Amino acid sequence: MCGIVGYVGKQNCTDVLINSLSRLEYRGYDSAGIAVFENGEIKVVKSKGRLTDLSARMETEGRPSGNVGIGHTRWATHGEPSDVNSHPHSGADVTLVHNGIIENYKKLKEFLIREGKEFKSETDTEVVAQLISYYYNGDPVEAIIKASKDIEGSFALGVVFRDFTDTIFALRRESPLIVGVGEDESFIASDVPAILQYTRNYYLLEPNEIAVLSPYSTKIYDQHYQAIEKELKTADWDMDAAEKQGYEHFMLKEIHEQPTAIKTTIASRITDGLPDLEECGITCEKLNSFRNIFIVACGTAMHAGVVGKYVIEKLARVPVVVDIASEFRYREPIVGDGDLVIIISQSGETADSLAALRLAKENGAKTLAIVNAKGSSIAREADMLMYTHAGPEIAVASTKAYMVQIAVMYLFAFELALAKGKISEDECKKLVSGLQNIPDVISGMLEDIDDSQYAAASLVNADSLLYIGRGLDYALSMEGSLKLKEISYIHSESYAAGELKHGTISLISENMPVIAVVTQPELAQKTVSNIKEVKARGAYVILVCSASITVDEDAYDLKLVVPDTDPLLMPMPAVVPLQLIAYYTSVLRGNDVDKPRNLAKSVTVE
Ligand code: F6R
Repeated sequence: MCGIVGYVGKQNCTDVLINSLSRLEYRGYDSAGIAVFENGEIKVVKSKGRLTDLSARMETEGRPSGNVGIGHTRWATHGEPSDVNSHPHSGADVTLVHNGIIENYKKLKEFLIREGKEFKSETDTEVVAQLISYYYNGDPVEAIIKASKDIEGSFALGVVFRDFTDTIFALRRESPLIVGVGEDESFIASDVPAILQYTRNYYLLEPNEIAVLSPYSTKIYDQHYQAIEKELKTADWDMDAAEKQGYEHFMLKEIHEQPTAIKTTIASRITDGLPDLEECGITCEKLNSFRNIFIVACGTAMHAGVVGKYVIEKLARVPVVVDIASEFRYREPIVGDGDLVIIISQSGETADSLAALRLAKENGAKTLAIVNAKGSSIAREADMLMYTHAGPEIAVASTKAYMVQIAVMYLFAFELALAKGKISEDECKKLVSGLQNIPDVISGMLEDIDDSQYAAASLVNADSLLYIGRGLDYALSMEGSLKLKEISYIHSESYAAGELKHGTISLISENMPVIAVVTQPELAQKTVSNIKEVKARGAYVILVCSASITVDEDAYDLKLVVPDTDPLLMPMPAVVPLQLIAYYTSVLRGNDVDKPRNLAKSVTVE
């Protein structure tokens, strides 16, 4: 999704803006632009494409020189990616950048056209620039407040006014925005990595707060124009966490960070060998009070929820519904008092997941957020909170965040099963100890990744493939399939192995490779029968299977072995080869692995 940055200080603003925007590239974008005060005039340069295209544009149009400005990476929503639709956009007195969606922009545009304003772009953003200009009467904050009252939707804005050459203004409603504070300089940004190279101190803007940044002061106002004091936060990530550290791509680095991410996420939540979730507000009493559990999320986070469902139902015998957030929010879900709704989100800002959380609360359900980004909207609004400690995830394709989402799902399931008396303390300790051992298992696997590379090489020319599995292996194959399609652009589906015969098997031919996941001993032979069925119809079969499960050699073409652990915990190590297959297939196809086309890291629009 769009990224916003802004700078006020003594440094060369264009350099700072481009540097900071490059740290937001992971969010996904299709055009970029900056506006910088040069000799008292606002100079705008923007271009369709990547930041390199913007730099090339500056070679011809001139590189703005100044100390105050705003910048943007755009992920197109209203109007195609083009030079003219790129941000910044301007009104008579105002130039701004915007993240989010203005839902009533058509109505506002009609009004402004009636007032004689002319528009250059198809964007909702230009409407905001014109609207703030319309209200501007010498006081920028007043104009921003007035305009914001007319605007419906979710947004964050970075704004400069022609008359205030040493100041930038910012407003946040739903879309995230932080204000970085350095020595005699300040910043705005959509996310912390954008400012980390300059400062680790920042304010988190709350909805409807307005920031006014000049070199020597940072003021924040509420929507009634009252100055407010805010707590200055310090980012606990350092630059290393946001750098590639010698890996070719962030995705590969993040796959390798998984053992540490699991350890950091679970360590403080285990006491005397048992799960201890009290610091997250989760007590035995609360756990016993829940009738039904809903897990609501999007994409990969939703797939972590599917693993959670299998594990919770198996161990704690509590019914769990997993829902796609964009479906849940509009299907009038039967959820309310006595229910627990778990929202899983890496970014904590996904629009549909946030809306689902609010709906659950309105209906009287208790909510638990499993979130990676500290201080994000979902983290702040949920009744209970379990942070995952994966550190910044920069690659668009989620890997380590999924891993730690599963890790906390396990801890939660163990605690719930214990609270419900479905497992004994000894059984629970055994499961916890198995979970604590997983980082070492994964580290061992990451020492030898040749088989995954070989599997990727065998898929590189495929047009389409299927992932199959049963039970937890089916849950895992959903994630394997999504990972592959999003970064390799090869069509793929995941199927419950037993469901193939009911239609999909007609697709099987020598042109349809199948990746079969077999890690659950009690279901293994059933899946093996399904594998034999696809093999008999010509499919090239890649088998991902636990070391102790035996499969006839003529049933597959290539076997990737996953070390044995408790079958319940197998999704954690078994997802690693699936992530690596997706990664290397994308690399071999020459794709932009970390920034796949059309995708955004933080999906703040529905
Ligand atoms: C895929 C991926 C997405 C996200 C989804 C939810 O690799 O990363 O499917 O999982 O957009 O995002 P969060 O977790 O930020 O709510």
